[in-house]
Amino acid sequence: MNDPIPTPNFIGMLLECQQDALDAIADAEKSVDRLRIELLGGKSELAKLTKQIRLVPAVDRAQVGTVVNQVKQTILQALAARGTTQQTKTTLSFDPTMPGIEPPEGHLHIVTQAIEEITRIFERISFIRVRHPEVDWDWYAFGSLNMPENHPARDEWETFFIEAFPDRKKFPIRERTIRNRIVLTPHTSNGQVREMEKGVLPIRMINIAKCYRRQIDVSHTPMFHQFEGLYIDHEVSIGHLKGVLDYFAKQFFGPSRTTRIRPFHFQFTEPSFEVDVTCGVCLGKGCKLCKGGWLELGGAGMVHPVVLKHGGVDTTKYNGFAFGWGVERCYMMKAGTQLDDIRLLYSNDVRFLEQF
Ligand code: FA5
Repeated sequence: MNDPIPTPNFIGMLLECQQDALDAIADAEKSVDRLRIELLGGKSELAKLTKQIRLVPAVDRAQVGTVVNQVKQTILQALAARGTTQQTKTTLSFDPTMPGIEPPEGHLHIVTQAIEEITRIFERISFIRVRHPEVDWDWYAFGSLNMPENHPARDEWETFFIEAFPDRKKFPIRERTIRNRIVLTPHTSNGQVREMEKGVLPIRMINIAKCYRRQIDVSHTPMFHQFEGLYIDHEVSIGHLKGVLDYFAKQFFGPSRTTRIRPFHFQFTEPSFEVDVTCGVCLGKGCKLCKGGWLELGGAGMVHPVVLKHGGVDTTKYNGFAFGWGVERCYMMKAGTQLDDIRLLYSNDVRFLEQF
């Protein structure tokens, strides 16, 4: 076939060849390598047409050569695009037999973990976890605990008062002493009279809640947690109290830590004690956290008869003990914790928190 081919016909044949090639590439069945040989190799339709350029009038050959090159580029680009798609398909393919990628797993905050552990320890000796308001009437936080208004003992508690003065006339007269000012509870002792008011005796309460004080330094945060134990029954003695304190110290801190009880004063217990544990950072030598080898856990004592009366408990038949300790401080004193700044617990630094 050496007859001359008119230029328009030849270009038409080239475009037809290009369309056939693109259709073949779109056909998913053949591999890219095989298509490349079929469409651009020595025996391909394009190769045959290229050899026939000499049959086009000489004056048009350069133009026809350009079209041949354009067709070739179009086919190459289509092949390259098909290759990328195939690769992407391979990357996205899902193999159900491959082991999965484990998502990062969080855990409870360490203070929550400590609260759960403390709860379990007391549950084992029949104390029941209860909840009382964390924003409460001044009466439950102070008045009912033998600290009437303007009593100097209130100063110890660095209290946040709420700027809300309820309309006391709305309450029955007998309640007007109680419904006075509102505070962010500075201790969990507000739960003592509230628990007695339930009228169920004996009482074995463990009240764990948030407390608030105007304090911030290496061993104080403005918001912290306390756990308050209250035991009311017949003929309760200091020996019972000491037994419970020792039981808790051994369970929570481990047998290597020691405790001591010092005489102290609280308005709502008589006699009152301060309970200390050897510091977990220096183990009694003295460091920037404890300044003397001992860390204060919190207070304890035999419930004052005035408090029992405010709770409606018959003091001729019942007596009891109470204690209130800081959850964060207890956690810091735990063996191996090595925490020398209480504020770290609430700095929300994941690098710190994920170590526990
Ligand atoms: C009390 O709050 C008494 N209600 C405890 C009590 C209960 C005594 C029952 C007798 C009977 P105190 O102010 O010492 O006591 O606080 C108890 C503990 O709370 C402290 O020893 C400490 O562990 C913790 N604590 C107090 N203030 C803070 C604070 N700002 N940050 C962190 N922990 C605190």
